[in-house]
Amino acid sequence: MSQDGIDLTNPLFFADGDPHAIWRRLRHEDPVHLTEGRLSRKFWSITRHADAKFVLMNDTRIFSVQRSGANLPMGPEFENPDDSLFTQLAQSAQQLATMDGQPHNALRRYFSTTFTSTSVNGLEALVRRISDELLDEILPRGTCDFTTEYAGRLPTAVIAAILGIPRGLWDDLYRWNNMFAGPEDPEFAIGTAIETSTFGVSNIMRTCIELAEARRAAPQDDLLTALVQAEIDGVPLTETQIGFNGLMFFAAGHETTRSSMSVGLLELLKDPAQLAWLRANRHDPAVLRTAADEFVRYSSPLTHTLRTVTEDVEVGGKPLRAGDWAVIWFHAANRDEAVFDDPERFDIRRHPNPHLGFAMGKHFCLGAHLARLDMAVMIEAMLDRMDDIELAGPVEWSSSNLFWGIKHMPIRFRARDGGAAEPSRAA
Ligand code: HEM
Repeated sequence: MSQDGIDLTNPLFFADGDPHAIWRRLRHEDPVHLTEGRLSRKFWSITRHADAKFVLMNDTRIFSVQRSGANLPMGPEFENPDDSLFTQLAQSAQQLATMDGQPHNALRRYFSTTFTSTSVNGLEALVRRISDELLDEILPRGTCDFTTEYAGRLPTAVIAAILGIPRGLWDDLYRWNNMFAGPEDPEFAIGTAIETSTFGVSNIMRTCIELAEARRAAPQDDLLTALVQAEIDGVPLTETQIGFNGLMFFAAGHETTRSSMSVGLLELLKDPAQLAWLRANRHDPAVLRTAADEFVRYSSPLTHTLRTVTEDVEVGGKPLRAGDWAVIWFHAANRDEAVFDDPERFDIRRHPNPHLGFAMGKHFCLGAHLARLDMAVMIEAMLDRMDDIELAGPVEWSSSNLFWGIKHMPIRFRARDGGAAEPSRAA
């Protein structure tokens, strides 16, 4: 049964509905809920923080990401791997996020060096430069679509620069990624959902494969070069693995940050006292870090992750059988009253904040340091250079039950001191 006619497998519900009313009810009444939607099979919806942690911490041993991939199929047409390129790839353990055990450990170790806090801190100048360039372009207009022109463009540009994708291709990749993440969204559709998704996925993969192949002869200091040089237990990555890992980095690297940042600003605009406090403390790195984590908790832009049960196990008092699907709704766990005081309140000073927005355990977000850096730079730079920020039109939400968040958010503002970047800023 769906919840009072609400279908958690329907992306349109996440664009127009209020998932938090459902999460509250499920947490209280049936926290491990056998859920039906428009897919051909049922799955367990896990909504409490403690149960979510149990599943995440038993990855590989009791719960596999590799058996069926890390996400619910985006719709019935995506269930059959023969019909959907993305489903085929997602279920074939070809990229880090959908691998179990030793191969996952080996590949993760290999990529980890790029994303340690030290390596990421070294990227701060790059992130600030990109932010300044974007704001230089936006500020004279006094208005912009905050989500697409700043919150989405900055992380896209940063991850594209880390991968080594030339600037001329960034906008195409952004567009193709929207097609793959929201194939049913009328704004991105170019045909059926499958056609739209396949177009987006195959174009991003082809671009990554072609660019990576060129690195074989001429290696550079970027992540595409790392992909062609990577080995799992002595075996180089195949072409498909290179393309699919490139797609993973690109998608994971911007979609989520864009949503956290947009939802965070929207909440600040509703609460002028918090916005004023953040503006006054914007050069304090600890304040920025705490605020960014609340942006992630509150928005939980990756709505869910999927695991396939590998042996019978009890979760939250419910008997899960081998082969069942367990879906952790990060969205729900991050508002669990048992863990967070006043969980529905957006509080940029919340501390501690043990949210699961970056997951936990073996698949803990590899890009968490980068996401925090992107957001800290954006919050500081935006408050340095914009005053009197306000909404300038309706906010539009994404049609996706995988990435929750804002698609468009028009704002107007007054450029501070002519909009010039502040000469010295805290690291
Ligand atoms: C606010 C921003 C972000 C959020 C909320 C977020 C969230 C997550 C979550 C929840 C997972 C675990 C998924 C699972 O268990 O199935 C994950 C994994 C991952 N994320 Fe992020 N992410 C963010 C930004 C980034 C960025 C900027 C990158 C850039 C490289 C990135 C790269 C990855 C990768 C590679 C994985 C797979 C790790 C593995 O399987 O070992 N993420 N992310």
